[in-house]
Amino acid sequence: YEGAQRFLPRERDLSALREASADCRGCDLYAEATQTVFGEGSVRARLVMVGEVPGDREDREGRPFVGPAGGLLDRALADAGIDRDDVYVTNAVKHFRFTRDDRASRRIHKKPSRSQIVACRPWLLAELDTVKPDVVVALGATAAQSLFGKDFRVSSRRGEVLELPGPPDLPLAVATVHPSAVLRARDSERDSAYAGLVADLAVVAKAAS
Ligand code: URA
Ligand code: SF4
Repeated sequence: YEGAQRFLPRERDLSALREASADCRGCDLYAEATQTVFGEGSVRARLVMVGEVPGDREDREGRPFVGPAGGLLDRALADAGIDRDDVYVTNAVKHFRFTRDDRASRRIHKKPSRSQIVACRPWLLAELDTVKPDVVVALGATAAQSLFGKDFRVSSRRGEVLELPGPPDLPLAVATVHPSAVLRARDSERDSAYAGLVADLAVVAKAAS
């Protein structure tokens, strides 16, 4: 597999990108997943939120952030004063990665590998180039590593307004935790994890205005 680049269409509007992404075979993930889960939102959105990889629900529905993590993200955006209509949501990797639980036929989410993140990056860069947001937000380590490179550490740089490596016309960027990390936090830590996410998103709101 050589990555997504050769599957990109000549026209760069969102519907052409979405349509072409349905046939991507840039890495091995297309083979087991149900469908490509492309980003969603207005081309005029001022903010782009980048998650990790679609989950089980997203894989079946073909839309990003429609499961529990998406519910938490919507709530955090509202609490940070961000209008959901001003947000385009997508993922660093666009096909679901999972392992099967032997007994139940449950599919268990698996983190994408470094090579899968790199393979899928052309789709994310094309989305950013088309939407041209004021700020792009990396939700968690996978998105942050796709945008900033493999040595980036969310824990030490979260909530800062940063410049992306690459050409100068790229949006500003902010890294924060993934909404799923808030859902997974132990009871005693969930409220503060959520407050941390909202505080980082408030930085994003300010940087975009
Ligand atoms: N987690 C993600 O990173 N992306 C989704 O679309 C859903 C859950
Ligand atoms: Fe293409 Fe990305 Fe899917 Fe891999 S995960 S097949 S690179 S769309």
